[in-house]
Amino acid sequence: MPSLDGLLDAHQKIMRHTRARHLLDDDQQRRRPFGFTLDDTLHVDFSKHPINDETIELLSQLCQHAGLESKRDAMVAGAAINTAEQRPALHMALRSGPGQRSYSADGEPVSAEVHRVLDQISDFCDSLQSGARRGATGQAFTHVVNIGIGGSDLGPRMVCQALRPYADTGLEVRFVSNVDPSDLENCLADMDPARTLFVVASKTFTTQETLTNAKAARRWLNAGLGLASDDVAQSGAHFVAVTAAPQRAEDFGIQASAIFPFWDWVGGRYSLWSAIGLPIALAIGPKRFVELLSGAHAMDEHFIAAPLDQNIPALMGALSYYYRNYWDAASHAVLPYDQNLEALPAYLQQLEMESNGKSITTAAEPVKAKTAPVIWGAAGTNAQHSFFQCLHQGTDTVTMDMLAAAKSPTQDQEQHQILLANFLAQGRAFLEGQDQALAKTRFLAKGMNDEQAELAAINSQIVGNRHITMMIYPELTPWVLGALIALYEHRVFVQAVLCDINPFDQWGVELGKVLAKEILPALNEDKLVEVDPSTQALMARLKAWQA
Ligand code: F6P
Repeated sequence: MPSLDGLLDAHQKIMRHTRARHLLDDDQQRRRPFGFTLDDTLHVDFSKHPINDETIELLSQLCQHAGLESKRDAMVAGAAINTAEQRPALHMALRSGPGQRSYSADGEPVSAEVHRVLDQISDFCDSLQSGARRGATGQAFTHVVNIGIGGSDLGPRMVCQALRPYADTGLEVRFVSNVDPSDLENCLADMDPARTLFVVASKTFTTQETLTNAKAARRWLNAGLGLASDDVAQSGAHFVAVTAAPQRAEDFGIQASAIFPFWDWVGGRYSLWSAIGLPIALAIGPKRFVELLSGAHAMDEHFIAAPLDQNIPALMGALSYYYRNYWDAASHAVLPYDQNLEALPAYLQQLEMESNGKSITTAAEPVKAKTAPVIWGAAGTNAQHSFFQCLHQGTDTVTMDMLAAAKSPTQDQEQHQILLANFLAQGRAFLEGQDQALAKTRFLAKGMNDEQAELAAINSQIVGNRHITMMIYPELTPWVLGALIALYEHRVFVQAVLCDINPFDQWGVELGKVLAKEILPALNEDKLVEVDPSTQALMARLKAWQA
């Protein structure tokens, strides 16, 4: 009996020479649906992939063989599935509301505490809205600056941008993440210290970039308020913290009552549903933040309950694993046809590449599978004018997700139709491509002579048959966005299970942090540091230019 690996390898050899376009008309190979809709709202369409019933069957077997369902259920049960750090991974608990599924971490119920923090967030938002909470000079806050990086920045930043049409609280929310002082300076250039609130977001409250920026922000604020540079008392009203290390936040000078806690069982890149999402609630209001949570919860319940061959995250994750390991797809492009989702690819880069950019299995052995693809992308239609040429005629296999809303959040639905026409046209071009004969007729019709048309047709061949998932929804509401983000979180988990890696740790980012701390003194003073000759030479040249 050939192994599952053998079956998948043989299957892809057949499917490589199968046109997805022909499968669309082949009822014999496609008896089951290839599109799935969550709660009649988020529709995920796999029909443009070169896959058939047998593909789905094999991918379902792949998931069963890897124990996906039992590992998923262990995550839901709050088991320490983050094996390297011996922690649960309970981001699903953050979006399960009162009366919905209760969660426990290592046997300890957590849902009540989750809901208490949600109430703390709501009360805080109300206190700003009502003017009950004001700055040191008695003025109401008009601007919020979130200081954080990675999972303490990318999620809330992306959601605030995506839900900009819902930002009606009157608070302008901005984000600073980079230790490059230009980031903070650019952000604060037009701000009024008296009306600015800082959210210092850091799970560990040790991240160099975040603490450096928070100290610089406090210097800026105190200077603006005419306070001593190290004052923390009077400027305290302008700082809140979101962290799993509350004592460190208090040591930094943030009042205990202004600290929003979250927990070790929340991974940084899975934390926007926790108090890390405070900027979201401040921008769109706590009620809509709860709608975001509800959409994610709906996707969670689907992921928990749906049979594997109708399970949207399982199919998306298994397809990604299949293309990565059997089709050599090295990268995955996320192409939102929605300018407000422009930051989605950057958010998904951390979610997927920091989760699955691994090479050691959960058994601490070298991994056998190819793990995370490179995640990249940009908003359409802009992307059509930058890298779509490569997607249409390049030599590499790139898998793609394209997303679009039926309705525009603007008043200009007529122009939105042009966006949708491009979205559908590109999906069709990726599916069907363009053969030489068809291209030649088009060039002849444009008035080219036969020789010109022949040459142009050769250069215009497009293979098509690309691996593309199309996602559509009525409009980008908080609920839809929540469901979409949860879908990608679970897609990541499925791929991790199939690769047998831990998606919830990130040992690979620690080395750089240690080396930076070693180099900094040598950059600032004439201290020597043991570094390679290349780095030494660069340091010498940089310091000469700084002299
Ligand atoms: O990139 C490394 C990392 O630890 C991420 O996992 C995390 O989201 C980010 O840095 C920020 O960490 P913290 O929230 O603890 O400041």
